[in-house]
Amino acid sequence: MSLEGKSPKESHVEMTELVLPQHTNALGTIFGGVVLSWVDIAAAICAQRHTKKTVVTASIDAMHFLAPIRLGWIVNIKASVNYASNTSCEVGVKILAENPLTNEYHHTASAYVTMVALDGNGRPTPIPPVQPKTDDENKRYDAALRRRTARLALKKDLKKRSARKPLLDP
Ligand SMILES: CC(C)(COP(=O)(O)OP(=O)(O)OC[C@H]1O[C@@H](n2cnc3c(N)ncnc32)[C@H](O)[C@@H]1OP(=O)(O)O)[C@@H](O)C(=O)NCCC(=O)NCCS
Repeated sequence: MSLEGKSPKESHVEMTELVLPQHTNALGTIFGGVVLSWVDIAAAICAQRHTKKTVVTASIDAMHFLAPIRLGWIVNIKASVNYASNTSCEVGVKILAENPLTNEYHHTASAYVTMVALDGNGRPTPIPPVQPKTDDENKRYDAALRRRTARLALKKDLKKRSARKPLLDP
């Protein structure tokens, strides 16, 4: 059964969060893990909008935090499906931090999350392809395809190494 392609616009997500005391460390800046959890949620919503299926996170590529986000700031999280293959898709997530008192705006981090759609038995299941329409969407599609190749090679290597290692290293 072939599934009809969808444009990234159809599943785009924009989330807004306020940095509260429970999100921060002793310096009054946000914990990286809190940002990661918001990234994961935005990516899951985006992938579910695209696939109309239950999804799980297969991987999150290396994430770099380029600037701190402070207590009381607003965090804008944008997520779009860049590319979809048979059962998985790459969601690009951008984190923009906003100081509400000064209108300062920082691009704090970007992440590439691979989500896999599962059927009722918890097995990977086919999803619709992505149909990029704009120049930007086409660029993101091509770049995502290149990242997929590198990511799967890395996974293969990690699997090979972990198969060779005993469960508990001395
Ligand atoms: C992700 C998961 C469903 C993949 O299952 P699997 O048996 O390895 O399935 P497959 O090898 O058939 O791969 C299914 C798809 O996932 C992709 N995939 C698997 N591991 C991946 C990884 N580490 N990074 C990126 N994509 C991955 C495959 O490329 C394939 O995509 P495609 O069909 O579009 O080509 C399985 O590893 C799993 O359940 N992991 C735990 C997920 C989870 O619990 N996440 C929450 C945080 S722990």
